[in-house]
Amino acid sequence: MIASASASTDLFSPARLGDLELANRIVMAPMTRNRAGLHDEPTAHMVEYYRQRASAGLIVTEGTHPSRAGKGYFRTPGIHEPAQISGWRKVADAVHGEGGRIVLQLMHCGRASVKANKAPDAETVAPSAIPCRAEIPGPDGRRAQTDMPRALETAEIAQVIEEYAQSARNARAAGLDGVELHCTSGYLPMQFLSTGTNRRCDRYGGSLTNRIRFVVETLEAVAAAIGPGRVGFRIFPGNPFNDMQDEDPASTYGALLRAVDGLGLAYVHLIHAPTEALDALELVKAHWHAAVIANNNLNLDSARALRTGRRVDAVSFARWFISNPDLVERLRRGAPLTMPDRSKFYTGEAAGYIDYPRFELSP
Ligand SMILES: Cc1cc2nc3c(=O)[nH]c(=O)nc-3n(C[C@H](O)[C@H](O)[C@H](O)COP(=O)(O)O)c2cc1C
Repeated sequence: MIASASASTDLFSPARLGDLELANRIVMAPMTRNRAGLHDEPTAHMVEYYRQRASAGLIVTEGTHPSRAGKGYFRTPGIHEPAQISGWRKVADAVHGEGGRIVLQLMHCGRASVKANKAPDAETVAPSAIPCRAEIPGPDGRRAQTDMPRALETAEIAQVIEEYAQSARNARAAGLDGVELHCTSGYLPMQFLSTGTNRRCDRYGGSLTNRIRFVVETLEAVAAAIGPGRVGFRIFPGNPFNDMQDEDPASTYGALLRAVDGLGLAYVHLIHAPTEALDALELVKAHWHAAVIANNNLNLDSARALRTGRRVDAVSFARWFISNPDLVERLRRGAPLTMPDRSKFYTGEAAGYIDYPRFELSP
């Protein structure tokens, strides 16, 4: 693809999202790359990968589990053990050394988890004991059946929320600039939010107010742990990924946005895929007054159009950042973009990961 040259836009100008000061409004979206070490710790390759992409206004890291039970995929990193925190410190230092900003995406997979991907004694938990019928890759990369989840007891939920809060403290101790709560793609927060996966009869299920409670309490706890201006959250209302169903996403996410609008959070990160039934950006604009990062299939023109009229504060790119470590500079100059090699998204070590050249070095 040839990017269009950057006509008048402030996408390349600094922005402030809560307490996060960005050099530009182009964010690297979170991407699981399955290259963590034996103890789910960030490796030297991961340090280099994020360092290369530090010219993004903000990097949102790959989904990172807040506990052993929160792991669902193979070779994903954690943030609950000392070796993991030390590994993230190296990532944060490398990104900061290049003048970048980086927040950690907290991802608890809940029921979207293959047993063989996690520690043998790690449980699989969810709001209700309803299995995920989607298969997800196991250790050999082939799709496998997910683990039957155990429904969390009411009394256990405070502990799960505290694991998120402690992970946010760990992220800050590692020098990361903040955290993003992953509330979509069929993981634990979305399992609580959605009617298809939440059949609870306690204060965390049943009514709409009860279904949003887990996410609201988690965001409150994480905000109290590290300051609200360093906390964002990611949503995609109606996302069916990982066998999700919600009877009325507009009501669910409208209520959630209203409930957390006053917390002083840094941003909401929206995966925007409007349908005739629901335009989630309209929903966000109606119920949310802090910053918005919009994502999904963007190029410079569509990103600029989203920014026109201040509909969003920043835009994020995922796949273009895989193959264009200097994406911001390429977009600014109207330079050609390199296509990513899909076969290396989730496999490979250095290959397809830290070997994409900067534009200056391209043939
Ligand atoms: C390899 C890969 C891994 C991803 N992992 C995550 C993840 O860990 N957390 C998340 O919220 N989204 C994840 N996503 C979704 C992206 O952040 C993004 O929403 C999606 O790719 C659409 O943006 P794009 O069109 O700019 O690629 C992933 C996408 C890709 C391609």
